[in-house]
Amino acid sequence: MFWNDTKPLRTLQTGPKIALSLFLILAGFGYLLGFFNILLHYQMVDGKAGLSLKDVQMTYYGSRDKTALEKSIDASMRGYFATDNDYNATKEWLADGASEKDWDSDIKPIFDKSCSTCHSSGAQVAGVTTETYSDVSNYLAQDTGKSIGRLVQVSHTHVLATAPLIFILVLILFMTSFPMKFKSAAAIFSMSAVFLDIGSWWLAKLAPGFAVLVMIGGMCLGLSFGLLALAPLYEMWLKKK
Ligand code: HEC
Repeated sequence: MFWNDTKPLRTLQTGPKIALSLFLILAGFGYLLGFFNILLHYQMVDGKAGLSLKDVQMTYYGSRDKTALEKSIDASMRGYFATDNDYNATKEWLADGASEKDWDSDIKPIFDKSCSTCHSSGAQVAGVTTETYSDVSNYLAQDTGKSIGRLVQVSHTHVLATAPLIFILVLILFMTSFPMKFKSAAAIFSMSAVFLDIGSWWLAKLAPGFAVLVMIGGMCLGLSFGLLALAPLYEMWLKKK
């Protein structure tokens, strides 16, 4: 089978070679899309452009000195305020303890104007409603980052998506004529990268120091995808017979 030194990849006819190459390119492209999704989504968590360790810490462990509402309005929801005054008034209200007595007069009009296009009880974008004080009070507790439920959800989809894809790529790598030691090392590294990538999210939820593992895990997975997609392409199209 694939593990033998039969070198079927080099001897492939043009049709299957093109089909296989398209798959490899798609897989690499899929990874890049995932990467840009992360970049777009998480770089503004700390309010500054560019993905940083702080973004990762705030996402998984949370900003424990803030409420979830304050974290969101300092980050991705910041731009939805109609004016800076509205934003400042909300910040003041939060700093003063976010009392219910000032909600109707001061804050509700701001939220109705700036937030309810997405967070009305009808639309409920991202499951969030900001119409009444009791809606909003759900987000007035200490921000503890990604919830366990959400972590289970993303871990489950990521394991089921990346594990089979990496496995198929590894099988293809084993069909190349690279040395067995290199292929085995690349295979073991890539499979471990999936563990590290997903496991690191859970560790980063436990303690902010582990956020660096999220970065390392992501890089290892990127390296794996790059290697697994490029090595067979190189063998099929560039390597001298
Ligand atoms: C154009 C649509 C849109 C508008 C307007 C909008 N939001 Fe959001 N909101 C979202 C989306 C999408 C998410 C989920 C993804 C995210 O967190 O970026 C979200 C998430 C949230 C969350 C949950 C964050 C968390 O950590 O779970 C809160 C709280 C929130 N918004 C508050 C607000 C407030 C307050 C405003 C008004 C200043 C506002 N949003 C305006 C689309 C919107």
